[in-house]
Amino acid sequence: MNERHAYIKGTGHFAPEPILTNEDLAKIVDTNDEWITSRTGIKQRHIAPDDMANSDMSFEAARRAMDDAGWKPEDVQALIIGTVTPDFIFPNTAALVADRLGLGKIPCYDFEAGCTGFIYGLIQAKAFIESGMMERIIVIGTDKLSAITNYEDRNTCVLFGDGSGAACIGSEGPGGLLGGIHWGSDGSLGHLLDQPAGGTRNPITHEAIDQKKNTIHMAGGEIMKSAVRAMRDSALKALDEEGLTYKDVNLLISHQANVRIIESTARVLRLDWKDVYVNIDRYGNTSSASIPIAMDEALHNGTIKPGFTVVLAAFGAGLTWGGIVVRWSDES
Ligand code: UT7
Repeated sequence: MNERHAYIKGTGHFAPEPILTNEDLAKIVDTNDEWITSRTGIKQRHIAPDDMANSDMSFEAARRAMDDAGWKPEDVQALIIGTVTPDFIFPNTAALVADRLGLGKIPCYDFEAGCTGFIYGLIQAKAFIESGMMERIIVIGTDKLSAITNYEDRNTCVLFGDGSGAACIGSEGPGGLLGGIHWGSDGSLGHLLDQPAGGTRNPITHEAIDQKKNTIHMAGGEIMKSAVRAMRDSALKALDEEGLTYKDVNLLISHQANVRIIESTARVLRLDWKDVYVNIDRYGNTSSASIPIAMDEALHNGTIKPGFTVVLAAFGAGLTWGGIVVRWSDES
């Protein structure tokens, strides 16, 4: 029996100041507030200015999480980032953020799991800590999707926003104990949500840029169906691994992609709407940042109370999916 456990010790998030409302978007593409609100639940999103890169947002989110946890730079043994919008293809964004935070020469890397990035990161941190390899790790879910959004495509541009969320994961409680997990992927469906050009399959060319192949392409309807199934299965399997059922859940924090997807997921999980955290109206879909932003809000506005069992569930490009049970200590 593994006696070592991993705990969420502190959280932080950052969303850039400029706000793009549905009314603003209606001036750019053929859309309107009524369509966006009723089909997605989104009212506004934060959009980073051109001179703000992903690492700038991540630095701020991580700094706030370290403050929250009471961690000093020398406490941190690794920093990992889930993102599809790094500052550069290389060097990795995590190393740039760690350098700015003054964390020293610790291991840092980016990984790419679409909107499931933060859950994949928590699972890696849990494994590092439970194995005895490390004691304190920072996990960041972060994306500047506005940098790869086609603002001429109304099917996608109304959905996305920018932001970062971070969590300090440590080996000693109290805090949010990282419990049962489930994660998976299906590359055969990767084409449903992709940025077709810019990698080694379709390098960037003038033609690719003219055809906007360097931006997000998505088969929205098909993604929606897979999303509900993936988040339901992830949540239920993670709960099962922890010896729990839906009846034990105090709060669901799912990826914020579309309020209709969140409603359907809550329904199939038999959860009351009051036990579901929703902030998509204010942020839009921030990809791997959506769960850590929501969790940070829920912890600091009193939604998550001592003793709560919270289930996190996400899906995204890959396709990828994942769920994890977080059990908050009775002591706050
Ligand atoms: O983070 C993970 C990845 N992303 C997601 O999870 C997104 C999953 N998908 C979705 O959220 C939804 O599929 C969308 C919000 C993208 C679209 O909603 P939908 O109910 O699937 O609408 P639709 O694509 O079937 O489009 C319905 C109609 C179409 O018009 P016609 O063909 O019926 O005349 C679209 O052209 O709505 C039209 N439409 C719009 N109208 C006004 C599409 N986008 C817009 C728009 N404003 N922005």
